[in-house]
Amino acid sequence: MIKPIFTFIHVPDVHLSESFDALTPFMESVHEEQFHSSPDFIVFGGDNINGSRDDGAVCEREMPILKDKLRALKVPYHIFCHNHDTWGEECLGEQYRRYFGDEFNYSAHLPHGFVGIFMSGKYVENEVLIENAIDNASWLDQTLNKMENQKVLLFSHVPLFPPRKPVLSHILPTLKREGWQAYGFGLKPEVSKPFRDVIAKHGHVVAHYSGHCHVHSVIESRGTHYVTTASMSSQPWEYRYIEVYADRIVHRCISPHQLKRGVGFWTNCLNEDHSDVDCYHDGLSEERDFVIRY
Ligand SMILES: [Fe+2]
Ligand SMILES: [Fe+2]
Repeated sequence: MIKPIFTFIHVPDVHLSESFDALTPFMESVHEEQFHSSPDFIVFGGDNINGSRDDGAVCEREMPILKDKLRALKVPYHIFCHNHDTWGEECLGEQYRRYFGDEFNYSAHLPHGFVGIFMSGKYVENEVLIENAIDNASWLDQTLNKMENQKVLLFSHVPLFPPRKPVLSHILPTLKREGWQAYGFGLKPEVSKPFRDVIAKHGHVVAHYSGHCHVHSVIESRGTHYVTTASMSSQPWEYRYIEVYADRIVHRCISPHQLKRGVGFWTNCLNEDHSDVDCYHDGLSEERDFVIRY
């Protein structure tokens, strides 16, 4: 049997807080290797802590909890920050940098000529951005320029394409928040287009991985797959396990919740920011398990 050249996990939106911890069962799932082999690395894709818009000290309390828990992780990881990781801070990303290093954006060599690019940022709604952080297409352009002969896996928090189709009309009355739609969690087209144009210009970004909207999604555009992974903190309480081969990347969703802590633990932990819509966050079968070929 052909083995993958490397494997990794994409786990955005852990939303760790003082009262809710989906990180521990996630780490147990990884360490026990019940659902998959140990990956070569893990990518924590933003909203790693829950934060609070109304609490200026929440990042100061939650970021060290995150750092402490990750000390026990036996697998190398990459991490970057986004909206929940910076909420309430006067100097956005101050606590993130204190515990995870100065660089908001960085790249790392991966096996067999692959490169990972990891970009932090703050959700853009005509708000001030983190100084020197993502939301900076020219930084991405310059970085991709230096990697012309390599295959790039690009990671940031907010989808660059509106994720998934709209909520079906018969489900709309069940939404917790009127008008909630996953595509409302994507960057506005005028903000995301410069990034998509840079990606298409270079033509060697195999996939962009995002989270933020807590649904599974995948869209192909101009040679790049735009993959959104749902959340460990709200339905369907899943992460993605990804195998990279010489000619393809294989994706599948992992659901440790049924065996970890019991369903009651998870259903008590829904994030009010994200609706609990049966059969919606879970994704279509082709959004859950799929193969990118190149
Ligand atoms: Fe989130
Ligand atoms: Fe988010």
